[in-house]
Amino acid sequence: MTKLPARLQAVANLIEPCSVFADVGCDHGLISLYVLDNWLANRVLCIDKSLKCLEKTIRLLQHHHVEDQAIFYNCDGLYPVRQTPDQVLIAGLGGAEMIDILYEYSRGRSLDTIDSLILQPMRDEYAVRKWLNTNGFKIVKDFVMKDKKLYHIIKAKRGEQKLTEEQLMFGTCEDSFAGKDYMEWLLNYKEKIVRILGDAGKGANLAVTGSLHNTLKKINNQIKYVEENYVKGNTSISKTGRKSN
Ligand SMILES: C[S@@+](CC[C@H](N)C(=O)[O-])C[C@H]1O[C@@H](n2cnc3c(N)ncnc32)[C@H](O)[C@@H]1O
Repeated sequence: MTKLPARLQAVANLIEPCSVFADVGCDHGLISLYVLDNWLANRVLCIDKSLKCLEKTIRLLQHHHVEDQAIFYNCDGLYPVRQTPDQVLIAGLGGAEMIDILYEYSRGRSLDTIDSLILQPMRDEYAVRKWLNTNGFKIVKDFVMKDKKLYHIIKAKRGEQKLTEEQLMFGTCEDSFAGKDYMEWLLNYKEKIVRILGDAGKGANLAVTGSLHNTLKKINNQIKYVEENYVKGNTSISKTGRKSN
């Protein structure tokens, strides 16, 4: 069985057995192969808008003799795909692009057909959480992991959830706050805002700097919350938790 890089293994660990699995932006094909090798779906829809990338998936699945269970689409997103997936993975794309793909899909078919969504946005995780929250998805996993770079990985199921501003910004699953990768991400986020504020200088627009100071305050609160509940000698997950909806 092909060994996956850590980021893709973290994504793969979230895949559940399903009927039709869609790998949007399949590229190298490693996840499609993983799903078929592990009997996780009857059908895999391998989708890529780049023919060159899709051909990598085709070659890999042919090499492993599992191409019969796959349907290959050289297209943009999910909209043109005829089959209806019950589990969708979009990994390695920007959050805004993921939202576009899901929005386009929802124009043709009900999102109710998707039982489970696994998203690994390269940026704009806030917007991804917000979209999920306002389109009938409940986030069930949400964590940061490091594989040279830091990545957000989010899994959502059909369901209701009302997220606070802090949950949209910092994630919804407190069991992931204990990880050192999560703290590294928070500290990087803080550093970025401090740098932007520094670069903005004294003459900057007050509304903009006010909003940045507000973000910084929220990050500092989150760092304090995580340190107090998950880091300082705490080996177990906080039982107090925050109010969640
Ligand atoms: C950075 S690669 C990620 C590959 C793989 N999903 C991963 O996480 O390792 C992005 C892939 O998505 C494809 N892609 C980008 N936007 C797409 C879209 N709207 N529809 C289909 N494929 C897309 C690109 O051609 C590329 O092959």
